[in-house]
Amino acid sequence: MGCVHLIDHPLIQHKLSIIRDATTGPKEFRELVEEIATLMAYEVTRDFPLEEVEIQTPIATAKAKVIAGKKIAVVPILRAGLVMADGIMKLIPAAKMGHIGLYRDPNTLQPVEYYCKLPADLQERDMIVVDPMLATGGSATAAIDFLKKRGTKGIKLVCLIAAPEGIARVQQAHPDVEIFVAAIDERLDDHGYIIPGLGDAGDRLFGTK
Ligand code: URA
Repeated sequence: MGCVHLIDHPLIQHKLSIIRDATTGPKEFRELVEEIATLMAYEVTRDFPLEEVEIQTPIATAKAKVIAGKKIAVVPILRAGLVMADGIMKLIPAAKMGHIGLYRDPNTLQPVEYYCKLPADLQERDMIVVDPMLATGGSATAAIDFLKKRGTKGIKLVCLIAAPEGIARVQQAHPDVEIFVAAIDERLDDHGYIIPGLGDAGDRLFGTK
C-alpha cells in the first residue's frame, strides 16, 4: 500500500484552520494555501539525495552537501492546484511545471480531461502532483494514470485535505505513489465534498463564488 504522510506541523495546522473558516476571503486564502504548500514541500523533499562537493568558505576548504541534480516536475491539477504548485516551487525553483486540466462531471463525479502540457523530458523527472482536496480520488487517480501512460515512474501526490475514501482509491489504483496531506477529514458528503473540509478550493482560491 502507498505510504500516507500526515504533515501535522503546528504552523500548518494553524494556517489550515484559518483557511477552513468560511469567513476567510480569497486573498488571505490564496496566501495561506501557498504558505502551507511551501511548508509541506519541506517534508515532500526530505528524501532528495545529496552529494558531497568541495567549496571554499572565507576561512577554509570544506566538504559540503548539495542536492544531487534530481530532476523534478511539479504538476498541479487545474485549476485548484495552481497556488499550491507556486508554494512548492518556492523551495525547488529549478523544477519544471506541467499542467493537467481535469474537471469533475457534476453528475457522474468522474474526471474529464480537458488540458495537458508536460515537460518534454518527463520520463527523466520525478513528478509532484498537486491538488488541494483529495475527495473521491477520481481526479488524482486519473492524473497519475495519465502521467504513468507517458512513462513517468516516481510520483508523489501532495494535497491539503484528504477524505479517507480518496486516500483508499489512490492507494488501490497506485500503491507505488506516496501521498502527503496536511489533514485527513471524516468523509465525503453526497456531492463529493469533504466534511468538514473547506468548501470548493478552486472557488475559494479564485473568488468565483
Ligand atoms: N473539491 C473541493 O474543492 N472541495 C471538496 O470538498 C471536494 C472536492
